[in-house]
Amino acid sequence: MGTVTLTIDDKAINCPSGTSILQAARQEGIRIPTLCDHPALEPFGACRLCLVEEKNGRLMAACVTPVAQGQVLRTDSNRVLEHRRNIVRLLMAEHPESCLVCNKGNRCELRGIAAELGIGETDLYPMPHPRTLEQANPFIVRDLSKCVLCGKCIRADHELVVVGAIDYNRRGFLSRPETVHQKPLEESTCTFCGTCVSMCPTGALSVKSAHYVGTPEREAASVCGFCGIGCSLLLGVAGNRVIEINPGVEPDTVNGPTLCIRGHFAHDFLQAEDRLKVPLMRGNGDFVQASWDDALSTVGERLWGIREKYGPQSIGFLGSSKCSNEENYLFQKLARGVFGTNNLDSGAFFSARGTLSAIRDSHIYRWGATPLKNLEEAELVFVLGIDPSHSSPVLAYHLKRAARKGVPLVLIDPRKTELARFAHSWLSLTPGTDAMLLSGIAALIAEQKNRQGHLDGAFAKGFDQYQEQLRALELNKICQETGVNENVLGEVASLLSDRRPAFVIGRGILHQGVFRETLKTIFNLALLTGSTGTREPWLYVPTYENNEAGAWDMGVSPNTLAGGNPLSRKQVRKQWERAWGVMVSPDPGLNVIRMIHEAEKGNLKALYVMGENPLRSLPQHEYVARALENLEFLVVQDIVESETTRLADVILPGAAFSEKDGSFTNMEGRIQRFEAAVSPPGEARADWDILDLLLKKMDKVSFSGSLEKVRREIGKLVPGYGDISSSTPGGWIRADKPENEKMTFFPAPEPTNPEQDEGFPLMVILRSFRAHLGSGTRTSRSERIQDSGWKGEVEISLEDAHKLGIQKGDRIRVESPHGTIERAVKIEKGLSPGLVAVPRGFAQNDAMNLVPFRDRGESDFTGWITAPARVTVVTQVDRLKAIRKK
Ligand code: SF4
Ligand code: SF4
Ligand code: SF4
Ligand code: FES
Repeated sequence: MGTVTLTIDDKAINCPSGTSILQAARQEGIRIPTLCDHPALEPFGACRLCLVEEKNGRLMAACVTPVAQGQVLRTDSNRVLEHRRNIVRLLMAEHPESCLVCNKGNRCELRGIAAELGIGETDLYPMPHPRTLEQANPFIVRDLSKCVLCGKCIRADHELVVVGAIDYNRRGFLSRPETVHQKPLEESTCTFCGTCVSMCPTGALSVKSAHYVGTPEREAASVCGFCGIGCSLLLGVAGNRVIEINPGVEPDTVNGPTLCIRGHFAHDFLQAEDRLKVPLMRGNGDFVQASWDDALSTVGERLWGIREKYGPQSIGFLGSSKCSNEENYLFQKLARGVFGTNNLDSGAFFSARGTLSAIRDSHIYRWGATPLKNLEEAELVFVLGIDPSHSSPVLAYHLKRAARKGVPLVLIDPRKTELARFAHSWLSLTPGTDAMLLSGIAALIAEQKNRQGHLDGAFAKGFDQYQEQLRALELNKICQETGVNENVLGEVASLLSDRRPAFVIGRGILHQGVFRETLKTIFNLALLTGSTGTREPWLYVPTYENNEAGAWDMGVSPNTLAGGNPLSRKQVRKQWERAWGVMVSPDPGLNVIRMIHEAEKGNLKALYVMGENPLRSLPQHEYVARALENLEFLVVQDIVESETTRLADVILPGAAFSEKDGSFTNMEGRIQRFEAAVSPPGEARADWDILDLLLKKMDKVSFSGSLEKVRREIGKLVPGYGDISSSTPGGWIRADKPENEKMTFFPAPEPTNPEQDEGFPLMVILRSFRAHLGSGTRTSRSERIQDSGWKGEVEISLEDAHKLGIQKGDRIRVESPHGTIERAVKIEKGLSPGLVAVPRGFAQNDAMNLVPFRDRGESDFTGWITAPARVTVVTQVDRLKAIRKK
């Protein structure tokens, strides 16, 4: 690419050829007004406000015109200004009078440009658009009379979030961004991600808020408190309230200018009425307000007393996949360093931890940064057991954009998820047979490569044995077991003949009883195709809560110390003992499942819960409640009242992410620091501050200290976290294990029999729903989500509905050997017969009662995604009414 030299407003500029005039001007700090341009969108040339004049008098739109050698341009000539003024006058003449009371206020880009050009009255005949306001949905208000047709919303919808809910409708003066057949947004494919709203330069699109009007007084950068993508946010603050949320504006964030429905609209819990504001202690059966001093003295004394009486194994600590790295670090230091127990766990038990430790043990994967943007440049992507459009929407945007750029996606999922529309192949398999399916693909690749003489196996140990095992596999049996056609397997194998795949693996894999087998097969396929030989990341493990990865890295885990190193290794323990000046118990700790079991048996006497709601997030709610009621002492530190706080002896009110300083680690390995934008409500305090006060109260002054001190300690002691103590707002986990010569093929898996149960002919799958995260403790507090009308209907295939005489809207009972729920039903064409899908997060997360409360080892939590099931109709919708409606 050559370099071009040109002059803009008398400034000589050098830039690569192909640069637009607008980019070249901006590079030199020359401002050109724009309405339709956005750096994340393809140039469009709609508004013509960016006109510039060439020396020869030619006018051109700077955003869509590339620079030319020797060009001499003016951005502010009289002709340019006159044209700009006329464009703005025409736009203002089309604008309604409600402009005066528009919520967009001084942030309206059109008003800003008009003021800049000195336009007050337009003196043109007013021609406002006779449009009605669309505000029936609880999230977005559309007042298209204020639309200037910049097309940013349409392009954001098509290019960034790749949904296609809106497009230009009609022509000329009547043209507007509309849904198909001008239906309301809630009847379109819109996911209410709000990206178009954040991009709209005028008040045509705005956020619907029941409580607040007006514009924020100030803005503060932050990080989303919901899922493990860790989107960068810009919080709009008025007084001491967060009243608006938009995507962050820093360069190179994971989300760019996009968000999802949760990030944009579900942070209402920050202002929930049942926010905890003061410490509470149980007295005569009821809660009474307490001072911090009394509450923390009670916590310290009661916990220590129980430790003295029953020993350190009688106390458990449940840390948080939502609290910050610093808080989780202090929490495990309190458990290990003060109480001498490794009974430590967090919400990370629920998805990624088992996999992360299996990956670390594998010697195949180099643990480190896995930027999502790399997926858009991958050669091929396998997406296994995840519906990212619901669980991790920004990951779905990356995958859809990758597909748009020509990256083949191979989707392996028993459900036809939204991503199937973008996939090269969708392999709808019998749940739990992923390992078989991947081995079948590996067998075909090995055969192909052998035929072409491309396979020598010198790159990893155990190849000959592995190849023998692959040869012994019977393809027709694999197809029978997995339910996937042989031609489809062949097609995927051919795609892989010259491509090195990346893998995105989700809870559908992590929660299988056979997840380790599946993971080994993925590693084998990565070795066979050469993915392991590249420097590019090839394994993406989405974390479901915002700081799952960080909680685990900080050592909130029963069997690993901070940095993920095993507790069982003496030299690892020694390192921490030297740093902390205390003994670290070598006794293996209890994970959360075992803590609950031991509490139910009466062996665990006390539990300290920080920022988790196990009574809603774990399976078998009644069992968990029984166990917690059995404790002698339960302390819960949280931001809102919950099913778990109601059973506590002491409640400590914590601060939400927007009310404290800290850092989260996202699924990519990005360590993101954030600062308080507002102060916590009432007497609530940051969780690290509460822990610090407790440590002081317990005379462990050397363990306490400022946040900066905690960060310095983490930076020094936790492998990969050196960047946390730097002055920059973030950094990346540094790779801690290079790929080495130990790479070995794993034995190909034996065929497995998926769980079956007499009398339960169907299989229930728990799925995510985009409006709720995890158990829904926080998202269900959003009035907007409550008002949406989403009920979390049970999904059933057309074939099964027909067989069972079920119609849309019927209320059905889903029974598994472990529990029963009742919900309305929805018939899903994309669901394979035999499957029933139940969204989590609704109805106190009762879906978790369908799966068993069990674990299969120190770090594997499995069998939480599927269970055998049967379905019966409880009440039928009025059939005649339903027919008439059709
Ligand atoms: S609604 Fe807003 S973003 Fe969309 S075209 Fe109109 S002005 Fe532009
Ligand atoms: S809210 Fe999101 S999905 Fe809906 S139209 Fe806007 S960009 Fe598209
Ligand atoms: S994708 Fe996750 S991190 Fe991003 S806005 Fe949505 S919930 Fe927040
Ligand atoms: S910014 Fe160039 S035409 Fe709109």
